This record gives sequence, structure tokens and C-alpha cells, in this order.
Amino acid sequence: MRLILLGPPGAGKGTQASAIVEKYNIPHISTGDIFRENIKKGTELGEKAKEYMDKGLLVPDELVISIVEDRLQQEDCKNGFLLDGFPRTLNQGEALDEVLSKMGLNLNRVVNLDVGKEILIERAIGRRICKDCGEVFHIKFNPSKKEGVCDNCGGKLYQRDDDTVETVEKRIEVYHKQTEPLIDYYNKKGLILNVDGSKDKNLLFEEIVKALSE
Ligand code: AP5
Ligand code: MG
Repeated sequence: MRLILLGPPGAGKGTQASAIVEKYNIPHISTGDIFRENIKKGTELGEKAKEYMDKGLLVPDELVISIVEDRLQQEDCKNGFLLDGFPRTLNQGEALDEVLSKMGLNLNRVVNLDVGKEILIERAIGRRICKDCGEVFHIKFNPSKKEGVCDNCGGKLYQRDDDTVETVEKRIEVYHKQTEPLIDYYNKKGLILNVDGSKDKNLLFEEIVKALSE
């Protein structure tokens, strides 16, 4: 299964991705997670990416495309993959087509999560992540049993630097301008699966799996 998850910030891409990759036993490739790991390790890539991420802007295409191209060549992508947060511009979409065509591969589906702005902001602002195991919580929609502490491993929960109201609003604006055109791009290829991302996460997952099996 070769999939893309498309949707604005806070739409639930990461949440659905975790369940989907477990079900299909494919790697979860999140360009946002790759950048955050690089920031944590203090690499040159992380330093460059942080400048853009903190402002809610997209990291330049030339930095993103080669990372994904390399990642798709790795052994664990042989049976498929799920891309979360890539492509995010038409240029990235076209570059991905080229890479896949060189590899003799096609995409199966592009799942598009549709969620209104108010919910997006509430989800992003209330998100809490475990610094040790990466488990994602939400103060209202998926709270940890003990405030600030991970249910899985007891690690401390933190908030992403770009999850402030101001930066989330900027990220949503950038999404509409630079990423939304990809819906039409993949629609023309007959690949889009539109889903209502404001639904309960388990019901939504069931709906996605059902549609993917058709
Ligand atoms: P990235 O990390 O990809 O962030 P994003 O696209 O803004 O999306 P988020 O991760 O914020 O949200 P999500 O949709 O994954 O939601 P989640 O499941 O966590 O990118 C960050 C930055 O990196 C970008 O701004 C850019 O600078 C850079 N970048 C990354 N990729 C790039 C690229 N290709 N090109 C250029 N730059 C790039 O859910 C959010 C919260 O809601 C959680 O708390 C969760 O528990 C809760 N929730 C989820 N689903 C539900 C539900 N159904 N009901 C109730 N609550 C829910
Ligand atoms: Mg995410």
C-alpha cells in the first residue's frame, strides 16, 4: 500500500497515520517528524528547517525533496509506505511522481482529511506529546491520566514550539495557499479519498480502511 495523507495542521494526519501503518505494516514517513528529530540532534538540516518551522512557513522544496527521495529507496519501503505531510507543494508532488516513476511504482490513494479552522486550532493548541516515546495526547480530546505525564512510559509531555495560536493560524494560511492545490492535482489523477476529519478518530480510521479495501 502506497499512501499519502493530506490535510491542514492539526487535521489528525499523525493520529490516523499511526493506526494505518500498524494495520498495513508499512513505514510512517512524516517530514515534520524528520525535521524535529534533526532539530533535537542539532544537525545543520535541523537548524535550517527550524528557521521556517518556527514562523509557520514551509521548509524550501530543495531541502525536503531529496530527504524523501532517499527515504523511499530504503529497504522497509519495499512493501509500501505512508507519507504524512509530504508533498506540501505542487512542486513536491511533481518531484514525487518523478521519483516513483523512476522506481516503477504508483500511488494507491491520497487520503484528504477535511477539518474546519476552529477545530484545527483547538486540536493543535491542546496537543501534548511525550518527550520519550512520542505518544500524542490532547488536553481535552485525548487526555493523559495524569496531567503532563505519558500513560505509556511515564515520560514528560511537552507542547510543540509551533503550536501557538499565532503560528497555527499562519500554518493554516500557508496550507490554503501552497498545499491545497494538491487536492485538485490528485483528484485529476483519480486518487483522492475525501474524508471528514472532524469525526471520532476510531470511526474515521474504520472508514478509511473500508475505503482502501474497495
Ligand atoms: P508537520 O509536523 O507535518 O505539521 P502539520 O502538517 O502542521 O500537522 P500537525 O502535525 O500539526 O497535525 P496532524 O494533522 O498530524 O494532527 P495530529 O494527528 O497530531 O509539519 C510541521 C512543519 O514542518 C511545517 O509547518 C513545515 O514548516 C515543516 N514541513 C513538514 N513537512 C514539510 C514539507 N513537505 N515541505 C515543507 N515543509 C515541511 O492531531 C492533532 C491533535 O488533535 C492531537 O492532540 C490529537 O490527539 C488530536 N486529534 C487527532 N485526531 C482527532 C480526532 N479525530 N478527534 C479529536 N481529536 C483528534
Ligand atoms: Mg503531524
